[in-house]
Amino acid sequence: MIPSYANFGGKIHGGILLSLMDKVAYACASRHAGTYCVTVSVDGVNFLQPVEVGDLVSLHASVNFVGRTSLDVGIRAVSENVRTGLQKHTNTSYFTMVAKDDAHEPTLVPPLLLENREDARRFLEAVKRRELKENYRHAFDNEKNRIALDDELNRLRDYRCVVGW
Ligand SMILES: CC(C)(COP(=O)(O)OP(=O)(O)OC[C@H]1O[C@@H](n2cnc3c(N)ncnc32)[C@H](O)[C@@H]1OP(=O)(O)O)[C@@H](O)C(=O)NCCC(=O)NCCS
Repeated sequence: MIPSYANFGGKIHGGILLSLMDKVAYACASRHAGTYCVTVSVDGVNFLQPVEVGDLVSLHASVNFVGRTSLDVGIRAVSENVRTGLQKHTNTSYFTMVAKDDAHEPTLVPPLLLENREDARRFLEAVKRRELKENYRHAFDNEKNRIALDDELNRLRDYRCVVGW
């Protein structure tokens, strides 16, 4: 991690890590699909530990799941202080990519070969993650539409905000 990747606090920008991870997700997805791919969504972007200038960051990635035209790539980021050998798991994120054909339309991807129990576990986890995400999306949309502002304004008293009108 070179100095120009750092923020004003001297740590590596989260955006730099995300950008590197996006490239890795692209490499994995496009190699599996055999086509150009685009990033559709990224889940699990939580930076658990800061990354320092000079650290060596390794991104461990695998295609965990394929749908019809989409693929899920899991990426585990580990940063290492090369002098002490100390390693830190900074985040694990899941990129959903979609394969595109020459007309830029979503195109079918090959099935995924699960070579061992670990591959099967990752595939099933991805299925579960997708189901939960869909449930969350529906639940949140319903809740959002149900917020009656005038009835619920008093709830704001429980939070650290100031009603300023
Ligand atoms: C993602 C995109 C291809 C979806 O196009 P679409 O016409 O809605 O296509 P479809 O409905 O057939 O969806 C294609 C696949 O994307 C998946 N998908 C669509 N929206 C999604 C979302 N918000 N999250 C996860 N997957 C999504 C669908 O489930 C489908 O997967 P499947 O074929 O494996 O079942 C289109 O929105 C796109 O090109 N977005 C821009 C992506 C991009 O440019 N990214 C770079 C960063 S700017």
